[in-house]
Amino acid sequence: MVRERGFAVFDGFLGRDQAEGARGAAQNIFRAGLMRRAGMGKDSTAWTDVRARGDEIIWMSSLLERKLSGDLSDEALTRSISCMEVCALLHDFRPSLSLQAVSDSIVSARDSLVTALSQTFTCEKATFQLARYAQGACYVRHSDVSETNAGRRLTCIYYFNPGWREEHGGVLRLYHPKEGLVDVAPLCDRLLLFLPDMEHEVLPCASERFAISGWLYGPSSFLESCQAFAARREEEEARPEEIFVSIVAYRDPECPKTVRDLFQKAKLPKRVHVGLISQVDFQDDEDCFLHEGDLPEGCEENVRETRFHWKEARGPCWARYLAQRLWAGEKYYLQIDSHMRFAEGWDEYLISQLGSCPSPKPVLSTYPPGYDRDHPVPQQSPSTLLCASQFGEEGMLRIAGKMLRQRPAAPRVSLFWAAGCSFSTSELLLEVPYDPSMKFLFFGEELTMLARMWTRGFDVFAPCHPVVFHCWDRSYRSSFKEVADPFDLRSRSLLRARSILRMGEGEETVRNGPSGQRARPEAPPKEATDKLSLHYNCYQLHSFFQNRNSWDCDFEEAQVSPMQVTSPPSLPLLSEIPLPGPGRRVRSRQGEEHGEFLR
Ligand code: OGA
Ligand code: NI
Repeated sequence: MVRERGFAVFDGFLGRDQAEGARGAAQNIFRAGLMRRAGMGKDSTAWTDVRARGDEIIWMSSLLERKLSGDLSDEALTRSISCMEVCALLHDFRPSLSLQAVSDSIVSARDSLVTALSQTFTCEKATFQLARYAQGACYVRHSDVSETNAGRRLTCIYYFNPGWREEHGGVLRLYHPKEGLVDVAPLCDRLLLFLPDMEHEVLPCASERFAISGWLYGPSSFLESCQAFAARREEEEARPEEIFVSIVAYRDPECPKTVRDLFQKAKLPKRVHVGLISQVDFQDDEDCFLHEGDLPEGCEENVRETRFHWKEARGPCWARYLAQRLWAGEKYYLQIDSHMRFAEGWDEYLISQLGSCPSPKPVLSTYPPGYDRDHPVPQQSPSTLLCASQFGEEGMLRIAGKMLRQRPAAPRVSLFWAAGCSFSTSELLLEVPYDPSMKFLFFGEELTMLARMWTRGFDVFAPCHPVVFHCWDRSYRSSFKEVADPFDLRSRSLLRARSILRMGEGEETVRNGPSGQRARPEAPPKEATDKLSLHYNCYQLHSFFQNRNSWDCDFEEAQVSPMQVTSPPSLPLLSEIPLPGPGRRVRSRQGEEHGEFLR
């Protein structure tokens, strides 16, 4: 309405109680002697003339300051708080104010607009003042924008004058460029919005009149942002939602085939964008390269590749960190290995599965079923779910993908996460990016990532149908383990992983493993359970499996674990977690003391 007509009136804006409360508070503020004669001109102290402008005002910011410094009498203070609440409400109302203002003219879908407009109409600043017009006061014709406050994009005035009648005068007269004179009476609980460059005046009042005037400042004009929003929306609708696919390859001849299959099987190949890290020998590994013509028409530009010599490789975490840096703002994030195959329409399926997960931040993940390099992808394959397997020598839990007897009807809550098959929105990449300091880490990647994502509110689910397949045969390719690690970065990474997982005390729990004969250990200290470290989780799982005396669990039962606690505890940010400090010796070929970490 503001867009079409330049102004809008809303009655019953906050409710009568709020309006009357504001009135009482305003009177107290006035009686406390806090209001000053309003000025005019470039600098508002430039001149005052009660014949031109008769109101007295107080800026809400100074009222707040006084309140904070205890400069107000008790009564005025308590009453003024309710007045300030009105302001705060006005302030909080910003997105829906602008929503109201444009909803008629742009789109009718209100809900999506509230979010969209709060982004589009970025209100950089808002100022509010309480104004009192005594009997006889007026404010001559003027506009609210001047050189000093050019950023004003919207004027909002809230009136709270109970029992206002025509003979009280004091109407606000808008000089509307098309409609001529428009009079708005300062009725109780009425909100008026108008474009601040429209000229207006306050006619003389026959009775005390209060109002809160607010000005919303925007970086770009209100109308421009409405138009920009409409244009962006159209553009978004025309473009399919894009998927960024992180692939890290270590001298893998399956890699080009993986990329080809990825595009071929996508319903909308153009939406797929690959960030590829190729760690290869430039002479010997010709069969590991992607060649011209490997990509379907229209997708030739859809692979961003970083290629370097395999001797420069620093393990999967480092490579995935580099791959993530190739992200260019795509909405979805798929992370896979370099030896994968896909089912037809995998893109559409994963997006719809993600949408059906009962979590605001879902991640789809599982160990995919296998494929045989010489044969096409199996047509029918059971669904898989990640389960605990055993603790490795270094104390890290091993995970196994178990095949489900029955295909679930909806995505299943998963206790674990697999790095080689993870689909989510790119929120995951932004909130839980790969840690570049985890060089040469292999076991520990998935657990630390899981702990970090889970403590930031992500929930992992296994998709109902497998649409991604993995080559489990490792014999045909070499592994990064052939790369020299002269400074034993792996040990440092492992320490870091253990510190993230809060492993350390209670180590024995881990070491003894599920088949250990020791009595059930003491429950971890409260502090540890508050943090709900993954270690604690492992401990719980451990007890669970120990009690059953078998790892071959029933899936229903396996779901009973603390990972299902829905409100994630807050762990420190990754950068706040101290690296293992100097003083603890780490095995190293050079025998050097560690402490200077490559971060
Ligand atoms: C103003 C103004 C109008 C009103 O403060 O700039 O025009 O109705 N107020 O109080
Ligand atoms: Ni004005």
